Amino acid sequence: MSTLWSDHVAGLIPYVPGEQARIPDLLKLNTNENPYGPSPKAIEAMQAALGDDLRLYPDYQALGLRQAIARRYRLQADQVFLGNGSDEILAHVFNALFLRGGRLLWLPDVTYSFYRTYCRFYDVPHRLIPLADDFSLRVSDYTQAVEQEPAGIIFANPNAPTGRALGLDAIAAIAKAHPDSAVVVDEAYVDFGAESAAALLREFPNLLVVHTLSKSRSLAGLRVGYALASSDLVAGLLRVKDSFNSYPLDRVALAGAQASIEDEAWFERTRHAVIDAREQLAQDLQALGFDVLPSQTNFLFARHRRQDAGEIAQGLRHQGILVRHFQAPRIEQYLRITVGTPEQCVRLCDTLKAVLSA
Ligand SMILES: Cc1ncc(COP(=O)(O)O)c(C=O)c1O
Repeated sequence: MSTLWSDHVAGLIPYVPGEQARIPDLLKLNTNENPYGPSPKAIEAMQAALGDDLRLYPDYQALGLRQAIARRYRLQADQVFLGNGSDEILAHVFNALFLRGGRLLWLPDVTYSFYRTYCRFYDVPHRLIPLADDFSLRVSDYTQAVEQEPAGIIFANPNAPTGRALGLDAIAAIAKAHPDSAVVVDEAYVDFGAESAAALLREFPNLLVVHTLSKSRSLAGLRVGYALASSDLVAGLLRVKDSFNSYPLDRVALAGAQASIEDEAWFERTRHAVIDAREQLAQDLQALGFDVLPSQTNFLFARHRRQDAGEIAQGLRHQGILVRHFQAPRIEQYLRITVGTPEQCVRLCDTLKAVLSA
């Protein structure tokens, strides 16, 4: 620790991303990347953007991409906010919407761990609301009358790392119960089988939906995310973004992201391939003695009925396969396994067979 740091830095507990190991013939099923490549049209658009124009700053309003996203969801461009990955959007959300005079942010106890990192980073007071025993979110916990309204509510839908999804009725009930609180739904995985709350934006000006191009668009390396909300909420986020970095997306990313959003055929084909592989993998894991939670995502959250999760993860690692094991309360006996191609899933299951019988 350096004496030159600002006072708060020593106390930070940074988010720990999934391992990026350098192992020969590595099968990486630990960070929910998409096994299929990005749209070839996105690659082409990015190649075309690599030219003399790179001496110019990108459009700080990123209108082309915002309009393309707005068209897809039948919204206005001023209802779309962009970020360098959805993590950056979430950071701005915590800063712009959740510091409300000491009121508490509500969030589930088991969810994307970056939310608590941002709570600490921005000093957002919060209340963790336990998920039910089956890891479902109990809507009544979020709709009861309370003495002090929350500063905001955030949850991932489908949730990570559990994979479970809520329906739109549940999300509408939560947004309706707290009109003076921003309700943020992180839909990083929604395209793998859940319904997007974007359909509720007209009805609820306090609702904000966050998406990423890292998962269903297979562009984790490009770092592009977007949020959809009322123009009022977006204006607040823009004020924060323009006090931080006016150009979070470079020209290459803007070109690639727009082409990806516009390539509906590639999107449909690849997301369905992942969904099909997920269903097969869930069956195969069950046959190997795992209890598998229902998933609407590109990963499965599974617990072996007899063997320790940490030991299984280590055994797989020795064979060049990475899966995610969280040493966190309630979930330390679960593994989060990204769905790969059918061939990768077969390699995973064959290796698991050997690891489990070792
Ligand atoms: C629930 C959830 N939200 C957001 C993100 C961040 O995605 P990105 O910053 O790549 O857009 C992730 C990444 O794994 C995630 O699982």
